Amino acid sequence: MLLHGMTFPDAVRVVEVGPRDGLQNEKVRIPTQQKIQFITLLAEAGFPIVEATSFVSPRAIPQLSDASMVMTALAHRNLAQFSVLVPNRKGMEHALMAGVRAIAVFTAASESFTHHNINATIVESIANIKPVVALAKQEGMPVRGYISTVFGCPYEGTVAPQRVLAVAQSLLEMGIDELSLGDTIGVATPNQVLDILHLLLTEGKIPVERLAVHLHDTRGTALANVLASLQMGITVVDSSAGGLGGCPYAPGAAGNLATEDLLYMLHSMAIKTGVDLEKVLAATRFITPLLGHAPTSKYYQAVTG
Ligand code: HMG
Ligand code: MG
Repeated sequence: MLLHGMTFPDAVRVVEVGPRDGLQNEKVRIPTQQKIQFITLLAEAGFPIVEATSFVSPRAIPQLSDASMVMTALAHRNLAQFSVLVPNRKGMEHALMAGVRAIAVFTAASESFTHHNINATIVESIANIKPVVALAKQEGMPVRGYISTVFGCPYEGTVAPQRVLAVAQSLLEMGIDELSLGDTIGVATPNQVLDILHLLLTEGKIPVERLAVHLHDTRGTALANVLASLQMGITVVDSSAGGLGGCPYAPGAAGNLATEDLLYMLHSMAIKTGVDLEKVLAATRFITPLLGHAPTSKYYQAVTG
């Protein structure tokens, strides 16, 4: 779509990560049945993919220690593709037993964050991911790979774009289908997004269809960064219902870009998503009383009053 000389895609695939990236950071324990209901409401809103939970160490993320129960309940439902985050072979074994059919693996572009998040160096994390990806491919599963701290690290500050490119290439070489570029602590600005995407697309020769953006909205720049990404040809954007979440291992990280805010902007620009904004709002309204705090989504606040 050409708008006053600027190009935007006709459609965007929105990956809903609220049940995983949102709930992983919530202090109050959400009962399993309510999580299943939240995920179901989101799937019914029309997302092609909902990232439902993670099979990580229960000591690292106690909130998601019921991942097997959640996925077993969802496995037979044909509502959306439910993917889960998997850090290692043990997590993959548990995920397979629970009937998981799509996974996401994760590493980062900075050493200190990788150490705090998964107790490994970047090289070790890539080695740990490799057999997980091989197993998933053997099972015919789609695999997404997250790169955290692409735009800045909570411990190291600036991250060299060449580090991002090197990690991206290692992940693609092992057969990962899609890379999601994480602004883990929400520090990115549009010029930086343009620079990094330009590097990955031109020097890295990474096909644009294989890239997604995953923007935390800590400093209110996430929507501006989406717009910059769309202009670079990106058509996959992650977001979280209500703007829930953050990462417990990234001090100061607020929630993801709120799904409602993203959908409001995209739909108003005539960019299709196939997702029903009112139904997302209903899912956020369902989960809010269980969290004990108001969602940060601007759209939610505007219409809820
Ligand atoms: P470790 O302690 O180094 O692992 O943790 P280990 O292999 O030494 O195992 C320690 C214990 O954990 C053992 O149990 C293992 O069996 C168990 P013990 O013998 O002591 O009783 N264990 C597991 N249990 C269940 N499931 C597993 C598993 N693995 C080991 N999969 C590890 C390393 C990676 C496991 C840990 O650090 C971990 O789980 N980290 C995950 C942290 C996390 O989930 N962070 C948030 C997600 S990432 C994120 O939010 C960023 C993202 O959104 C993008 C962005 O915004 O940038 C994706
Ligand atoms: Mg995240």
